[in-house]
Amino acid sequence: MARPRAENPRTKTANIRLTEEERAEIEATAAAQGYASLSEYIRFLHSRFTEEEGLGGGDKKTNPRDFPAKLLRPFLKTDHGQVFWGDSRSYLFSKAEENSVDLIMTSPPFGLVRKKSYGNEDADRYCDWFRPFAEGFHRVLKDTGSLVIDIGGAWVPGQPTRSLYHFKLLVMLVEEYGFHLCQEHYWFNPSKLPTPAEWVNVRRVRVKDAVNTVWWLSKTPYPKANNRRVLQPYSKSMEHLLKNGYKAKLRPSGHDISDKFNKDNGGSVPPNLLAIANTESNGRYQDHCRAENIPIHPARFPAQLPEYFIRFLTDPGDLVVDPFGGSCVTGVVAENLKRRWTCCELSEEYLLGARARFEPELQPLPKDRAIPYEIASPCARPVAEEDAPLFADGGAQRPASMRKKASPKIAAE
Ligand SMILES: C[S@@+](CC[C@H](N)C(=O)[O-])C[C@H]1O[C@@H](n2cnc3c(N)ncnc32)[C@H](O)[C@@H]1O
Repeated sequence: MARPRAENPRTKTANIRLTEEERAEIEATAAAQGYASLSEYIRFLHSRFTEEEGLGGGDKKTNPRDFPAKLLRPFLKTDHGQVFWGDSRSYLFSKAEENSVDLIMTSPPFGLVRKKSYGNEDADRYCDWFRPFAEGFHRVLKDTGSLVIDIGGAWVPGQPTRSLYHFKLLVMLVEEYGFHLCQEHYWFNPSKLPTPAEWVNVRRVRVKDAVNTVWWLSKTPYPKANNRRVLQPYSKSMEHLLKNGYKAKLRPSGHDISDKFNKDNGGSVPPNLLAIANTESNGRYQDHCRAENIPIHPARFPAQLPEYFIRFLTDPGDLVVDPFGGSCVTGVVAENLKRRWTCCELSEEYLLGARARFEPELQPLPKDRAIPYEIASPCARPVAEEDAPLFADGGAQRPASMRKKASPKIAAE
């Protein structure tokens, strides 16, 4: 039977000049990847390139019509804020005005990275998933506004190495979307368990992973901010110095410590390391969830994290948005601080729990700030090195004494 005629027959030829080696190499790669011919492989490369670069491969910009405002359902309203149940892209592209938001304070889902291989491919997929949000954030943020993203790291499953996905996200936001990195912060959670147990406790080739990165970005290099809003108590030695005076002198580092150093400014400028234990297991929110049989959100951040950035970067009356609202921690903090606010959340269950933060009355900000956390000086505990030989295989095998035991689950967080 005669072959049916192709509608768009490929009749044109193009000559590409290659060396013997180049031709052999490209043909081998094409064949290894399952392409029937060089032509097919080149067409694939072209389509991938145009898709990635947006060069004639279709407009990659998000179409607001895909995210109409009507898909957002009003869930809760307070004196200063509101909660929407639905996809926050409808807020970012349809509901919100351009240049209307003073602070986006959020923690995106990071479990999206595939469970099997948090390698580069997954990091790229995460970035692709994030793209419409990045575009929407840029659309709604004011020039004076800030974008703060709390994002935890991840381990490559089965291997004692880390994924790069959160660093890739940062690079994408800066290089592709034009955000500026004002300053990275680190949220140190002193109560974090030593995971993954296999590498930390069993093979002992990694240490406890106790910080989340918090990317503070902005649309211009000069978002509004004032570190006097977030001062911390002076250390004992500084208090002593303020009381007893300081003799101006040159430090070994070459810094000239002048007598202005004696001035009491009401507190010291905090470092970009925020120590907050995420230990809240009882409280109104949890009690309500348990009583109503609603799932407790598994990835909440502590109220002090949004509190720090809201105080540092916004004024009362400013608009704070959390597009990945979860249990509305950002909302409850913003309400307490009299900022206008909006939280969007996809899951109705999480919002049913979040309601308890606002009803019957507003949950106040945590009062107890008195406990400072100690971080020991490195190598503060003397160890006889010969008693602790290095694992020359880098932990590729479990210690002999443990080989028969089943591996504890390797956590990817
Ligand atoms: C890491 S959690 C945020 C937790 C929150 N910071 C808290 O303390 O409760 C991320 C949340 O984003 C939600 N989410 C994911 N995609 C979303 C979207 N397109 N629109 C709105 N919410 C989304 C998830 O359901 C999840 O609850």
